[in-house]
This record gives sequence, C-alpha cells and structure tokens, in this order.
Amino acid sequence: MAAGIDDIAVYIPRLYVDASDFAHARGMDPAKLEKGLGVSKMAMVDTNQDPACLAANACLKIMQKNKLSPESIGRLYVSTESAFDESKAMNSYVIGMLEQVYGSSSFEHCGGVETKFACVSGSYALYDNTNWIRAGEAEGKNALVVVSDIAKYDLGSSGEATQGAGAIAMLLNDKPRLLAFDPKVTATSIKDDYDFYRPFGKETPIVHGQYSNLLYLIQVRKALEAWKNKVISSGLLEIGKDETILDYIDYFNMHLPYANMGKKALAYLIRHEWRSLPRWKPLIDKIGMAEPQPKDPRGTIESVLGDQEFMEKDHEFTKRFTNTEEFQEVYESKLASSLIASKMIGNLYTASLYLGFRSSLEFEYQKGVDLAGKRIGFGSYGSGASAMVFSGVIQPEYESVVKDMNIEAEIGTRKKLSLEEYEKIHENKLTIDQSLLSPKKEFVLVEIQTKPEYRGERRYSFNE
Ligand code: CAA
Repeated sequence: MAAGIDDIAVYIPRLYVDASDFAHARGMDPAKLEKGLGVSKMAMVDTNQDPACLAANACLKIMQKNKLSPESIGRLYVSTESAFDESKAMNSYVIGMLEQVYGSSSFEHCGGVETKFACVSGSYALYDNTNWIRAGEAEGKNALVVVSDIAKYDLGSSGEATQGAGAIAMLLNDKPRLLAFDPKVTATSIKDDYDFYRPFGKETPIVHGQYSNLLYLIQVRKALEAWKNKVISSGLLEIGKDETILDYIDYFNMHLPYANMGKKALAYLIRHEWRSLPRWKPLIDKIGMAEPQPKDPRGTIESVLGDQEFMEKDHEFTKRFTNTEEFQEVYESKLASSLIASKMIGNLYTASLYLGFRSSLEFEYQKGVDLAGKRIGFGSYGSGASAMVFSGVIQPEYESVVKDMNIEAEIGTRKKLSLEEYEKIHENKLTIDQSLLSPKKEFVLVEIQTKPEYRGERRYSFNE
C-alpha cells in the first residue's frame, strides 16, 4: 500500500528580524549571515504566540484547504522541541483550538501524542504514521503530523544568528498526491551526546556550536550508510560499478538549522560517497590538494575539532571541492531550491527539513521541471543525537498541489522588527496583550494561568 504526504501547509509568524540589522547591532559583518550562514530574515513570534498556536494555525490551514472534516482525521501528532509542559502533550492544545472552529468534541475519536527528539522527532512521527497507514490501521482516515518550533537562542550567543519560528502541517494518507515514501528503507542512527540540549525550566538551549555541526554530519552519514544497505539489499535501486546510490537521488532535503548547513552536509556526504569512485582522482587533481586527514583519524569529535592544522586544511579543501563544477552541478540541480525558504524564514528546528522540502517543490516547479517520479532523499538530524535517512517518490498528481504553492503569499505581509522590539520580545518584557500585530483568522494565546491550582493552564482564541 502506498503511503505518504498528500499536502503541506506552512504557518510562519509575520514578525521578522532582518539579518543585516541584526549583524550591525551585534558588530558582525552582514556577509557572515547572508553568505556564511545563509540567513537573510528570521521569523519571530509575537507576544501572543506559542508553538501550540503555530501548530494549530498550520493544521487549520491544511484542513480548510483540503475541506477536511475532523471525522476524516484519525491521528494528530505534534513534534516539537519547544514544549512548555512536562506532561500535557502539545497536540491536546491543538485539538482544543481546532474544536473552537469545528465544534466541541469533534476530534474525540482522534489519537496522537507529542514527540520529542530535538529536530528529528517530526521524521519519526512521519515514519510511525506512515506505518499506521501501511498496516491498514487507518481505515481510510488521514493522519496529521505537525512540526512546530520556536528556535530561540541566548542574546549574544553564536546561535542567535540562526533563530526562527513556524509550523508545518503534513497530511498523510494512502493516496498521497505529493510523495509516497519508499517502504522498508528508512534508516536511523542514534547516540547519547550533548551537542545541543535544553534542561528543564530553561527557555534557551545549551549549545556547543561547532561540535553540533560535526556530530550532525557524522550521524547523518551513519544513517545514510544504513539506508544505502537497505536500498541495495531490498533491490529498490541497482547501481553500476562506478556509481553511488546518490546518483539516483534527484533531490536532497537536509535538516536546515541555517540554510548553508544543507550545503555543508551535501558536500560532506558527496565527498564520502565519491571518494572510492574513479571520478575522485581527476577531481583531486583539479582541486590541487590531497584530502586532509586528522592527526588521529579514529579520535573523538573534540580531538578532530582541536586539530587546528587539520581543520584549516579541511576548510580549504571543502572550499575548493564545493567550487568544482562537479559539486556545483549536484548542488544547483538537487539542493539549492530547498534552501530558498530557509533563508527567508530562518531555523524552524523540527520543521526546517520540511520547509526545505516545501521550498524545493515550489522553486523546482517554477523552473519548469516535471517532478513526477523524481526520488527525494531526506537527511534528518536531531541533537542529542539521532539521524534518520529516508526517501520517497513524487507522485503523478503532484501538480494539483504544487502549482498553487507560493511561500511569500502563504506567509503574508510581514513586519520588520527594530532591534529594540526584537530584544523586548526575546527577553519576555512584553505581556501577552501587548502584541505588535492584530491576529487575522488565526489562533492566538490569550492567557496563561498563574494561580497555584491552575498554574500553566493556557487559553487560546480564534480571531475571525
Ligand atoms: N563573510 C562571509 N562568510 C563568513 C564571514 C564573513 N565575514 N564570517 C564567517 N563566515 C562564514 C564562515 O566561514 C562559516 O562558513 P563555513 O562553515 O562554510 O566555513 C560561516 O560563516 C559560519 O561562521 P562560523 O563557523 O565562524 O560561525 P560561528 O562559529 O559563529 O557560528 C554556528 C556557527 C556554530 C552554526 C552557530 O550559529 C551555532 O552555534 N548555531 C546553533 C547550533 C547549530 O545550528 N548547529 C547545527 C547542527 S545541530 C542541529 O542542527 C540541531 C539544531 O537544529 C540546532
């Protein structure tokens, strides 16, 4: 049975910080954000928005667009790493909000949980719900998987330039118009590590930036190896002697904590795959330097990062490699379109991989490419740490969904924040009722109870 993504809806808060204003305020070269990280705008939540109402807004959009009734939804999962309750799951708040529109108890038949594993949990939720459908448990109903996050780092930290906020709702069923997942090849890697984590009660994460970049690459490569083995042993794809399985992936979608991380990951994975192929030697001649090796090739991430000579040489090698025509060809044709929306919006943690997928569909379609039958590879990563690599094929009916995609129109008119406004919101100096924008046909947070016996209860309203 086919199972996969039928449609995608995006909800992005309409406040943003401009990268250049941000860079000037922090005494940074704006080119570091624009070119080095690939960030031009960072979406920010208003005072009356939290990750649950972002998720509910994305759900409402996908339900209204597809004229779905609550009865047609069998499962509603929310994946997030911006949870605000240790027990009550975020999907329950979303159900409560949707029932304001669809009627009291209209979702009571529906199941679901909140899933957590940093930025990868949405991919696990997609996988589990796809299998729910494949197993015949869905009985013709749809699943909604919503990925929703507020990527917020400490003021003045290195991560502050990679913030963002938003939610993506994905409609899954057994007749997906957009993408059917390849069965039995989804692969994972997992490790207990501390590259990025958010201890109880802390609003922002503790981050070891460069360590997290390298751990992301290593974990995704491990999952890729496992995916390759499954793809070959299952006979899904056959590859020739001088080929890599990546030659058979038409589009890559990588987890994008910032847009250029996608390019970094692609370069790392391609290097790894091409190294043993006849195409590598002429490329090395062109690059004009041997691929550098760390002093201790079996060492830890710390020892590799601490090997300054290696890091400098590897940086130079990567720069030359990514400038070759061979890499550029792969990058431009298979990845670049997925980075466009990330540059406009910023980091969405769990949702960033799927914003990339959505971006790739829209901007490749605009180029006039016929996407039917194209195979998409996904590289998902969550700190702490787990990676998931999986794939799927664009379905013949995709055009009916993709032709109307327009990310700018979907976000709507945005308001640029001054740095003063941004910092006030960031530091929670404004109250819920001091929002900067008036809500438009969307759910907003109206109250968080403070009385001890009701502490933490949240109330939302839908504004016509
Ligand atoms: N002009 C052009 N480019 C410039 C520049 C300038 N003036 N100055 C620097 N750059 C380039 C650098 O060369 C570098 O590019 P390359 O990596 O291609 O060489 C890029 O800009 C970033 O520069 P630095 O590496 O020096 O930046 P940094 O150390 O200050 O911060 C970061 C980078 C570590 C990613 C930081 O933003 C951070 O800590 N982010 C949060 C953690 C994170 O996103 N980790 C990613 C993996 S973990 C994950 O993915 C989970 C998740 O979602 C958080």
